[in-house]
Parts: sequence; C-alpha cells; structure tokens
Amino acid sequence: MSGSPVERPGLLALAGVPSERIAAWLDRAETFLAGGDAPRADFGGQAPLAGRIVAHLFMEDSTRTRLAFEVATMRLGGRVIAATAAGSSISKGESLLDTARNLAAMGVDAIVVRTAASGGAAQIAQRLDVPVVNGGDGRHEHPTQALLDLLTLRRAMGSLKGVRVGIVGDIANSRVARSDVHGLRALGAEPVLIGPPTLVPRTLSGLATATGGPPIEIEHDFDRVLPSLGAVVMLRMQRERAAADAVAADYPKGYRLNRERAAKMPDRAPILHPGPVNRGYEIEPEVADDPRRSLVLRQVGHGVAVRMAVLESMLSA
Ligand code: NCD
Repeated sequence: MSGSPVERPGLLALAGVPSERIAAWLDRAETFLAGGDAPRADFGGQAPLAGRIVAHLFMEDSTRTRLAFEVATMRLGGRVIAATAAGSSISKGESLLDTARNLAAMGVDAIVVRTAASGGAAQIAQRLDVPVVNGGDGRHEHPTQALLDLLTLRRAMGSLKGVRVGIVGDIANSRVARSDVHGLRALGAEPVLIGPPTLVPRTLSGLATATGGPPIEIEHDFDRVLPSLGAVVMLRMQRERAAADAVAADYPKGYRLNRERAAKMPDRAPILHPGPVNRGYEIEPEVADDPRRSLVLRQVGHGVAVRMAVLESMLSA
C-alpha cells in the first residue's frame, strides 16, 4: 500500500497513503465498534480470515500493539503464531530478515513486524512475497497506532478538519509522532509538535514536506500554545532510543500534563497517549484517568478495530 517500491498489500507507513484509504479503514473500524469502544464481530459463519495465519515478529517489547493484532486476527477468524527475540533463534544471532524468510517459507499469510531498526519493516517487505504490517520500526513509523489515534479523535470530535492537535514530548525518537503527523495531515488536521528544543528540534518542521505538506508548526512553550489546541497526544520519553537524559529531570516542569495545564485547553478537549504511560512523569494520574477528558483506554479498544480493518482489507478473499 505504501513505502515499498513493489506494490504489495501491506502497511509500512502512513506517509503517502491517500486520505480516502485512511478514511475507508476508519469507516470499516467503526462498523466493528457498533456503538461500543471494543469491537465485536459476527460474520455469520463466514469469517474473513478463516484459515489464515498471521505471524508476529516482535523484536521489541510490546503489550498493546501485539495483543491488539492478536485479538483483531482472532475476531476475524484467523490464527496467530509468534516469534519473539527471546524465545527464537534471533537469540542465536539469526537476523530479522532470515527469521521472516523462514516464516514466509512456512506459508504464513501475513507478517506483523516490530523492530528497533528504522526502515526494518520495509526491508523485509521488499524481499518477501508476503504482506507485511509495520507494528513500529525504530524512530520511523507506527502506522496502525496513528490509525487508532485518528479513529479515537474522529469519534470524539467528528471532523478533524482544521483541528490543532498537539503532539507533546520526545518527538525526535517517536515513530508514533511521525505516523500521527502524516495521518492528521491527511484528514485535514493541523499537528503541532511540542517539547524542548533537544527533543523537538526545528528541523522536524520538515517532517511532512516529502509528502507535499507545508512545514509543521514547532512550539517549545507548552503553556503558551495550550489554549489553541483542540486535542493533545502525550508521548513517553523513549529512553531505549537514548532520549536526551540531560533534559529528563527538567522535562515535567515544562511539559507534564497536569490539571492546571489541562484546564487551559478548551473544555473537553481530548487527551490521548499511546501507552505505556509513565504516570506522574509526562502526565499526572488524575489527568490520565479523568473520564471527561482522557481517551487512553478507548484508544486501546479502537486499536483492535483498526487492525481488524487493515488485516481484513489485505487478507480477505
Ligand atoms: C508506542 C511504541 O511502541 O512506539 N507504544 C505503542 O505501540 N502503544 C509508544 C511508546 O512505546 O512509548
């Protein structure tokens, strides 16, 4: 669908994916939710992934993404097999690509990949004849996370046209931020990248120019910009990707979303976080759990629905 020079029905990145395609996935995900926040699906004996096997190749830790892909596959009537770094021959030095080649040789129908290597999912997709879904590759992209963020925002706010969405924190190391920027732009929203200069350098304003967009707004003063934001996506400090430790101690003073800061946003402006949440660091527990504003757990249920939509679109006969 994107990213790979050879057109195959995978999902590697949201950059360059047409807005109609994104909207179609979100619309389909909505039908699975049918008024609730976690999907139920009754295909009346004709499950779209019946007989299909989805292989998980997760080389970095994951809770929500891995399990949501698993639930999504099962709800669609398919099955999941999993290779993780610890329990596979990766621990003996076998490469991700060789592991993926072996999964393909077994005849699996799709591979969901998570890797610390930016571009790692595309490398596999270019060499194998199996659809590959990127479950997060280094600092590059995390397209299904962005789809679930978009679905959550769309359900909460209706249209995203013209809505200023603050993405706050360790943007430099965040694949979620990159996919969110492309997805938000595709649906007509205005992403604003917020954080200290070490984590949000001005060069990031060029993030979307490759796909033809104007420069992205960069803001280092969270308090100043808060009243203009229609929603915020709070991010975790990606210490595993060497987020600048120098800023870590000072970070909460300027950027932690506490009650005072949340009150500066328009009433009921949604608060999102991809998880895992470091309670008390980037967000106060009272805000993360505020039933009026926080959509953090709804995001998780929506994550199953969007992955159902993506898997169905590429694997159903
Ligand atoms: C994110 C990831 O792994 O990129 N988490 C997720 O998939 N829900 C963000 C993070 O780890 O902070």
